[in-house]
Amino acid sequence: MKYKPADKRYEKMKYNRCGRSGLLLPAVSLGLWHNFGDVDDFETGRAIVRRAFDLGVTHFDLANNYGPPPGSAEKNFGKIFKQDLKLYRDELIISTKAGYLMWPGPYGEWGTRKYLLASLDQSLKRLGLDYVDIFYSHRFDPNTPLDETLSALESAVKQGKAIYAGISNYKPEQTTEAAKILRNLGTPCLIHQPRYSMFDRWVEDGLLDVLGKEGIGCICFSPLAQGLLTDKYLKGIPKDSRAAKSWGFLKREQITEAVEKKVAALNELAKKRGQSLAQMALAWVLRDKRVTTVLIGASKVKQLEQNVAALDNLHFADDELNQIEKILKGA
Ligand SMILES: NC(=O)c1ccc[n+]([C@@H]2O[C@H](COP(=O)([O-])OP(=O)(O)OC[C@H]3O[C@@H](n4cnc5c(N)ncnc54)[C@H](OP(=O)(O)O)[C@@H]3O)[C@@H](O)[C@H]2O)c1
Repeated sequence: MKYKPADKRYEKMKYNRCGRSGLLLPAVSLGLWHNFGDVDDFETGRAIVRRAFDLGVTHFDLANNYGPPPGSAEKNFGKIFKQDLKLYRDELIISTKAGYLMWPGPYGEWGTRKYLLASLDQSLKRLGLDYVDIFYSHRFDPNTPLDETLSALESAVKQGKAIYAGISNYKPEQTTEAAKILRNLGTPCLIHQPRYSMFDRWVEDGLLDVLGKEGIGCICFSPLAQGLLTDKYLKGIPKDSRAAKSWGFLKREQITEAVEKKVAALNELAKKRGQSLAQMALAWVLRDKRVTTVLIGASKVKQLEQNVAALDNLHFADDELNQIEKILKGA
């Protein structure tokens, strides 16, 4: 069936300015790390992407290695794009990254010019796009001069293969240095992509301060801790969940008794707020104004809908925030 996006797609979504750039990103963005590989059902993924766009989610995040197999998420998104979204290219922010292992030999990972530019060309082919909106260095490379890595991002922008440059998983000091280099190259760093959730708060130890100071946007990945911060594991491990899948990055061992106890307590608090735990976890990440958007994953349309509806209640009373702190400390 030919897809026609919802006429009202921009009416409800909240858009936040990405750092000090002009770019607005939806408060909820969709990532394709899981659920879009060749191991997954294509039509389900397609339905999730279409529904996302209908709800005003304009940003779709990929990387060269997403799948499995690596590359298949880009290929499948390219197929969805061609079938459903091609007419709307200028309404979309599509990103990809390079940094992790993609092909054998000395040029298939990390942060050299050779790898990054070759990888971007491969990504564009798989995606069937002339350009991506954001091209990221996926991780800091300790063995390549930072100037070399970042000049590759700048080249991608100058060549018209990317519109903006971003970095992911860089520590605070590395981010400060990267911001300086990119500014001097004339291609400011648009955005940083770190992991951030109630269960992983490393960004609070300096990174958010750097991003605020440098005017760099922040897109937080795994805000639901890969599904742990939802009600799905309260009664064991469902068969169709990420933790149950052999290729999923969430391991059964991560669902410890201590985690279960915290999740149960957080779930009760969320209920009192009239939200699901997933919604409360997303609202909690968005409580910091330096956070531009939460980058969620979804294996079902319903999850995406529930997560976007988190935006209906982003407010926290001080007492609620204190209770969350207590629960997370295990007190
Ligand atoms: N830059 C990096 O290094 C990096 C690393 C990792 C991820 N990322 C990006 O971040 C994106 C999101 O990561 P993530 O998938 O780990 O995010 P997440 O939002 O923390 O976890 C998503 C998973 O949680 C479950 N879920 C989502 N909503 C739910 C709901 N309402 N109720 C119950 N379960 C729900 C689903 O798992 P089930 O399959 O169990 O249903 C879903 O696939 C990735 O796609 C990628 O774009 C970037």
